[in-house]
Amino acid sequence: MSHIRGRFQKAMDRLVARYTSSLPSDWRLYRYDIAGSIAHARMLAKQGIISEKDAEVIVQGLESIQEEIEQGRFDFRTELEDIHMAIEARLMEKVGEVGGKLHTARSRNDQVALDLRLFAKEAINQTLLKLRELQRALVSLAEANKDVVIPGYTHLQPAQPVLLAHHLLAYFQMLQRDIERFKDCLKRTDVLPLGSGALAGVGYGVDREFLARELGFGRASQNSLDAVSDRDFVLEYEAAASLCMMHLSRLAEEIILWSSAEFDFVELDEAYATASSIMPQKRNPDVAELARGRTGRVYGRLMALLATMKALPLAYNRDLQEDKEGFFDTVDTLLATLEVFAGMVATLKVKRENARRAAERGYLLATDLADYLVRKGEAFRTAHDIVARLVSYAAGKGKPLHELSITEYREFSPLFSEDVRSITLESSLAARDVVGGTAPKQVARALVRAKRISHARP
Ligand code: ARG
Repeated sequence: MSHIRGRFQKAMDRLVARYTSSLPSDWRLYRYDIAGSIAHARMLAKQGIISEKDAEVIVQGLESIQEEIEQGRFDFRTELEDIHMAIEARLMEKVGEVGGKLHTARSRNDQVALDLRLFAKEAINQTLLKLRELQRALVSLAEANKDVVIPGYTHLQPAQPVLLAHHLLAYFQMLQRDIERFKDCLKRTDVLPLGSGALAGVGYGVDREFLARELGFGRASQNSLDAVSDRDFVLEYEAAASLCMMHLSRLAEEIILWSSAEFDFVELDEAYATASSIMPQKRNPDVAELARGRTGRVYGRLMALLATMKALPLAYNRDLQEDKEGFFDTVDTLLATLEVFAGMVATLKVKRENARRAAERGYLLATDLADYLVRKGEAFRTAHDIVARLVSYAAGKGKPLHELSITEYREFSPLFSEDVRSITLESSLAARDVVGGTAPKQVARALVRAKRISHARP
């Protein structure tokens, strides 16, 4: 038996078979399919729907099929519609008619929903672990460069000095929210659909609680029509993955900028850079660029499935088969990106002198200068104005602020005196002593917290 043709006289057209088969992508579900079938067979026997002996034959058959697949001995015949049919057909070959009892009280509709949820749960757990690894890499890079100052930017214009560690911990926070999103998505994925049958439930006394326990689900679904046609859990993963890739793409962009000759704040480890085929001086950030590029692909998969699902009537429709390729690709892309980023970040070399020099250029202390005048009684708007004029004067002379004389300062405001010299990168950082600010004291505390979180189970 290779196809279920039921009342049909004709064999399926070859092109139709190829057009409709999902085997080229869903073969990956074999492990979940077999685990689901084993639990199902045991449940059928426990409920007296099939005999214990038949269940044992089926379970052994399924276990040996898993071995065949894992040893590369399984023949994935593309004329079979999907992984469910492929495994069932092989089971019949191996154990004969008894194999035909496995599909009692089940449909491929609840079967595929089950397989995909089992796959999704594992994917989420792996994603969480990889997110943690990248968090740890960020923390260790931050710790190793605790006192490195960089220019902070707005509009990509130098704005105020910040600690590099503070900047890196911003990404730590983004990843922390990603972790929370994936964990939340796990709650709704952790639902057993088996027992929903084709759409209406099954006409046998099945034990869904037993199935849920056997397969490690927190609960069983409450509506059969919904359970066979819902793919929210895939969409939620893809949406969370899109946000996460967006974060990674922002980090990628920073690494690309920072490793450019113009910024030159970091150097990529050779193992994470590529060489140019014609320009020997180059060390290209291809990993970061590809991550930035693949972000578009992940967004695309989300949009594709949303569009596929829109206006699908209840319950199962074959359109739903289109969920898998995009889902697998999203999981593969995200996991690979997280993994390679952890290594790339952990091996980044920070060029602290260059970063500091950049922070000394660009009048980053202008805000502190205005704050200085405010503390001496000036209104903030007026102070801002005075410093703006002072900065354009210094820029006209091509000088940094600390090279101006006190007499020059005083031409802009009589409130300036010698103590203006105490405004430095360090004093500027230390002044931002609020929770969430870049003062070294605050950042040190944030680092301790982040480190603790990064070593905890997600
Ligand atoms: N290959 C199908 C899918 O991925 C499995 C379910 C098929 N169900 C059906 N009634 N044809 O959605």
